[in-house]
Amino acid sequence: MRQTRVQEMECELPSTKWRTLWLAIVLHLLYGVQQTQCNILPVKPTHHNNTALHQVLEALAATYPNITRLYSIGKSYQGKGLWVLEITKNPGMHTPGKPEFKYVANMHGNEVVGREMLLLLADYLCSNYGRNERVTKLVDTTRIHLLPSMNPDGWESSKEGDCSSVRGRFNANGVDLNRNFPDPYDGQRNELQPETKAVMNWIHQEPFVLSANLHGGTLVVNYPFDNLPVELKRSGTRVYYSSPDDDIFVTIAKVYSLAHPTMHKGHPQCPIQRRERFPDGITNGAAWYPISGGMQDYNYYKTNCFEITLELGCCKYPPALYIMPYWYANREALIKYIELVHTTGIRGFVVDEKGRPIDGARIVIENRAKKIKTYKDGDYWRLLVPGNYTIRVAKRRYKNSKKKVTVVPDVPTVVNFTLVRRRPKNFNRRRPAAMTSNPAEAVQLEKPASNVSFHSVVTHRDKLQLAAKSPKKSASIARNPSIAASFICLVLVAVLK
Ligand SMILES: *[C@@H]1O[C@H](CO)[C@@H](O)[C@H](O)[C@H]1NC(C)=O
Ligand SMILES: *[C@@H]1O[C@H](CO)[C@@H](O)[C@H](O)[C@H]1NC(C)=O
Ligand SMILES: *[C@@H]1O[C@H](CO)[C@@H](O)[C@H](O)[C@H]1NC(C)=O
Ligand SMILES: *[C@@H]1O[C@H](CO)[C@@H](O)[C@H](O)[C@H]1NC(C)=O
Ligand SMILES: *[C@@H]1O[C@H](CO)[C@@H](O)[C@H](O)[C@H]1NC(C)=O
Ligand SMILES: [Zn+2]
Repeated sequence: MRQTRVQEMECELPSTKWRTLWLAIVLHLLYGVQQTQCNILPVKPTHHNNTALHQVLEALAATYPNITRLYSIGKSYQGKGLWVLEITKNPGMHTPGKPEFKYVANMHGNEVVGREMLLLLADYLCSNYGRNERVTKLVDTTRIHLLPSMNPDGWESSKEGDCSSVRGRFNANGVDLNRNFPDPYDGQRNELQPETKAVMNWIHQEPFVLSANLHGGTLVVNYPFDNLPVELKRSGTRVYYSSPDDDIFVTIAKVYSLAHPTMHKGHPQCPIQRRERFPDGITNGAAWYPISGGMQDYNYYKTNCFEITLELGCCKYPPALYIMPYWYANREALIKYIELVHTTGIRGFVVDEKGRPIDGARIVIENRAKKIKTYKDGDYWRLLVPGNYTIRVAKRRYKNSKKKVTVVPDVPTVVNFTLVRRRPKNFNRRRPAAMTSNPAEAVQLEKPASNVSFHSVVTHRDKLQLAAKSPKKSASIARNPSIAASFICLVLVAVLK
């Protein structure tokens, strides 16, 4: 959960429902038998300490070498490895046309359910590979990265059974990692922590398409934006601050909540906030309460990756008895969410006339401010909900290419683009490119530059629309030199008079 206020309510049991308790006991007895075998695999329904967690990942990598790779993205403040298990056919590198997916858990050290879910998920995917058709297809066609613990230091000071305190939430340097990412409105409030830096490098290095960040403390899917401009924050009312891709975020958030047996009911009934309701089990982050420096917004602002935040249950560190019920409640949702990378929107390649990949071409959807860029193999993924779209691909020194595309539900839509170079022979080195005699070309060059920032075109809810529009106006004046110049002239004239 994302609360920062200290809650020293010592722990009640996570659920008073007897049925859940009985189920938990039965499952625990069933799986407890295997524990006596003393093998690391299959993954046991216990809380794995940092050493045991690493051992499980090593055991999975050793048992399934053809479809896994264990790697570290860096070290925590205290020097513990931040281990990622990659699961895919032919692991080790990006395969052109194969989408990259990630799950990140235990960013708040005391929210541990996600940590165990990712170990169980890793085991499930590996052990069912070649046996279960659905899993095999998923592992063959997707590069899945699992980071079970982003905050192993914080985990060390957390305690089993502690449902709601903040002990162990922060890294060893006392910083909340989900407030530590660069923020478009509030900048950098705390020094970047090693865990944050490691994750930032990772998300810029791999061309991730889709992601989720696993937390605990309530039961809901939270989607961007988490933060909003100061003037809207000051208004004192709750503001639904939607991203340009709100329709997509709502759709993918619902895929998770609807695949979960209780989340979609939207009534977590957590002891701290008994009356809290989330229609369909989802919420816009800012509409719930704004946070600054969150990881999901950073993913969206800075990369191609769409990330949501999963709150898996009321109790942050439930007794081990509850791990199997959590797993059965989340297994289908976790897998369905990965599958979305294949069934939502369009993907394809952008190449030049000779079929060579074009790196860094911008995929622009008409009337949608967020742009996606191609990876070095020329491949791209653009999540979109079903509908008709006009897509423009732009790259410096190439002519734009435009296509009308119909995205249909549940079917991957492949759209390739071939870009043609602008006449290189006519290129006059003494003249800037934007001043070519062909006005159409000049416009094409201008367009992407004048629309890079999408913060200003984000839609807001009704009343607040006006408040949000004013910064947009001033920004566009600043960007337009002739308006700015005439404004300065007017001021000068007024002053001189
Ligand atoms: C971590 O867990 C393993 C396996 O349960 C146990 O043997 C080991 O003593 C634990 N390490 C620490 C530091 O508690
Ligand atoms: C890995 O793949 C090779 C070649 O396809 C195969 O011979 C081997 O049995 C596989 N190993 C495992 C552990 O599946
Ligand atoms: C900028 O993007 C917005 C929203 O996608 C669009 O309505 C507007 O026409 C674009 N402006 C330019 C100059 O491309
Ligand atoms: C998309 O365009 C097709 C025709 O090209 C039309 O039949 C269809 O109704 C359109 N779909 C939507 C959602 O607008
Ligand atoms: C798109 O390009 C890729 C790579 O060149 C190719 O494998 C694929 O068949 C193309 N798809 C379509 C629909 O043109
Ligand atoms: Zn959290």
